Amino acid sequence: MLDRREWLKVTAAASAAFALPGCSGAGEAGGAAGTASGAGTAASSGVAEMAGVTLRTIPSSGEQIPVIGLGSSATFSQVARSEDVTAIREVLGALVEHGGRLFDTAPGYGASEEVAGQIAAEIGLTDEIFWATKVNVAGRGGGAADAAEARAQIERSFERFGVDQIDLIQVHNMGDPPTQLGIVQELRDEGRVRYMGITTTSEQRYPDIMEVMRTYPLDFIGVDYAVDNRSAADEVLPLAQELGIGVLVYAPFGRSRMWSRIGDRPVPDLAQDFGADTWARFMLKFAAAHPAVTCVTPATSRAEHMIDNLGGGVGRMPTEDELAQMVAVVEALPEA
Ligand SMILES: NC(=O)c1ccc[n+]([C@@H]2O[C@H](COP(=O)([O-])OP(=O)(O)OC[C@H]3O[C@@H](n4cnc5c(N)ncnc54)[C@H](OP(=O)(O)O)[C@@H]3O)[C@@H](O)[C@H]2O)c1
Repeated sequence: MLDRREWLKVTAAASAAFALPGCSGAGEAGGAAGTASGAGTAASSGVAEMAGVTLRTIPSSGEQIPVIGLGSSATFSQVARSEDVTAIREVLGALVEHGGRLFDTAPGYGASEEVAGQIAAEIGLTDEIFWATKVNVAGRGGGAADAAEARAQIERSFERFGVDQIDLIQVHNMGDPPTQLGIVQELRDEGRVRYMGITTTSEQRYPDIMEVMRTYPLDFIGVDYAVDNRSAADEVLPLAQELGIGVLVYAPFGRSRMWSRIGDRPVPDLAQDFGADTWARFMLKFAAAHPAVTCVTPATSRAEHMIDNLGGGVGRMPTEDELAQMVAVVEALPEA
């Protein structure tokens, strides 16, 4: 088991591979109101000086959180269910150490929720993390959720994180909103949950999520949005802005899709102007530049990628003109 001092050494090694870029601080496009500088342990860890990750405001409360977080399906969940979960320790450590806070998970992501909760407790990070999880016990085909089962699933999340209050619970994949959002709303009213929301990453469900956004007092939605997957910007993101609902961006790399499109091509020169020196930062800045977006949550199983990703929240975001050029660059790539 790594203690806090040991993982600081590990993240120091990872940070040598991916330094965060300097913070230019100019012309922030997405409503930033400050920067974060990690959990205040950089000096003691020997990690190179860290620039601040842009903070975004949660519309319903005014609370600020770093614009880049961590997702936990995909490769993260593969590691979580393996025997050696060292990489998860390193990734969670790097998240906090390099200025991130929000961790997006779900009971549906295999062992991710449980392993992250255990490791955060072991390395003393439970209170540093903004815990964003989900609930869904409705059938895959969109059936009804059993209320007792949904409550039991939520109670397991409390146990796994070892907290009395969960920051955000979202109804996963639009599962039975009346039952499950109703339960989360009750918990929010009781103060056991700070924020409530609902997610979809299916364009076919965008009309449904917009209906829910208009009907329930949501704090957040979670939707897919990426430089080559921009449909959410047509109506969903503008509606979130109009209604004052925060947005978590999912699949900013399209999981493996964008990586296979990019191959070994160099990062386009235009990205240098807004400090995106890696493709990950290019894609994260594209998503984070949308003014509706509160936090982008790429998944990773590698500390150096976590640090790379947090760099996507540092410095200015691309302008409208630069965003159009980014789209043109990506449209010229081969299909996945
Ligand atoms: N309906 C929903 O509620 C829903 C649906 C989808 C996603 N989500 C949430 O959104 C999160 C993100 O979406 P996603 O996991 O589908 O995909 P994603 O974040 O778009 O992509 C993850 C992939 O990118 C790689 N990667 C990450 N950072 C990298 C870097 N800096 N350089 C190179 N490769 C990098 C990861 O591999 P490595 O491990 O090698 O870094 C992994 O293969 C999920 O984990 C989940 O928390 C929610």
